[in-house]
Amino acid sequence: MIPRTRFALLLALPFAALPLASCSSPTSCVTPGGDGPYPAYDYCSEATYPDFTQPRTRWDGTYPELCEGLTGEHAWACTEQLFWQVFQFDHGRRAEAYRALVPLVERVEADGSLDDHHLARLNLRVAQLGVAAMAETGETDLPVGQMQTLLERAHELDPDEIFIEAWLYTLLVNGAIVLGQDLDPYIDHLWAMYDRDPAIVTPTFMAVLAGFPKETGFPDIAAEMVDRFVPEEACGDLCDWEFLRASFGAAGQYFSSAEVYARVGDTEKAREQLELAKASPNYDRWPLRDVVEDALADIDAFTAPFEARGEDEYVTDLLITGTDAACMVCHAPLEGE
Ligand code: HEC
Repeated sequence: MIPRTRFALLLALPFAALPLASCSSPTSCVTPGGDGPYPAYDYCSEATYPDFTQPRTRWDGTYPELCEGLTGEHAWACTEQLFWQVFQFDHGRRAEAYRALVPLVERVEADGSLDDHHLARLNLRVAQLGVAAMAETGETDLPVGQMQTLLERAHELDPDEIFIEAWLYTLLVNGAIVLGQDLDPYIDHLWAMYDRDPAIVTPTFMAVLAGFPKETGFPDIAAEMVDRFVPEEACGDLCDWEFLRASFGAAGQYFSSAEVYARVGDTEKAREQLELAKASPNYDRWPLRDVVEDALADIDAFTAPFEARGEDEYVTDLLITGTDAACMVCHAPLEGE
């Protein structure tokens, strides 16, 4: 029931050409944008990171267009500028950026110019860009295996970082299902990760799990995770939901939760989540608010397509995460229109 074309229009943001490289004065110990603490940004360095308070750009022109030739922290900072620029604004350039950043990772891996923590984030980020290009922009010719390798490398470099492990695991679970492998070990590991950090694992996995056939047991696990998810308790200070890099994080999370409940046939809980989405920060600027209004006006029409699917069928295509707003449901720029 997700009207893809409407999102395509709403989210088809104006194409902004990346400016040519130029030099800028070093930033010293300044937090660009003040958008909260950020893992692997070193604000006391010569590198320049994206300024999330800029309404229409994450690219400040400091670096060469596709980060050519850069190494060390500049390679990482440039990757961040490029990632967030094409992720939030120039969607049509995602595949091009991904293809440029894979050799950058190889270069930085080879010259040893980044510490493990930064290098892990660099590998993660390039993989995330590939996933975004595939999921939202429909770039199906990008190699998934390469993204998995990047995530495995990120996990190897920073094994305690659950966010990285969760991202890697979504690809692994997908692969196991496609290959018809025994899912029990995956389910056990999923709950082990969940126990370590429900605030990260729930949002990362719930929509992925809800999309699988009911007979795998994953949709029920997704619903159980959502049942137990209390944003304030789970996230503490980390989840103030108003970061400019995920301005619609709360609305997207609640909407996605509504879909999880629709998936398992719980209409009342679906309605509650839609109401929470409606009450979330930035809702009045959220590109998907019409979908919530329509769903609240006719909740049966919202749940019916899910109920129509059999036990052995995927519903990935019915979920928002199966559309061209898979990431932008939460990450659309606040001033994007
Ligand atoms: C349900 C909402 C939601 C969806 C859907 C979502 N994200 Fe996020 N994402 C968030 C929130 C919230 C954060 C945390 C903000 C922060 O603290 O950085 C985040 C953080 C991130 C970060 C920064 C992580 C870091 O290194 O700290 C990246 C990159 C990212 N998401 C990419 C994606 C991509 C790619 C997709 C789509 C495949 C996606 N997200 C889908 C809500 C979402």
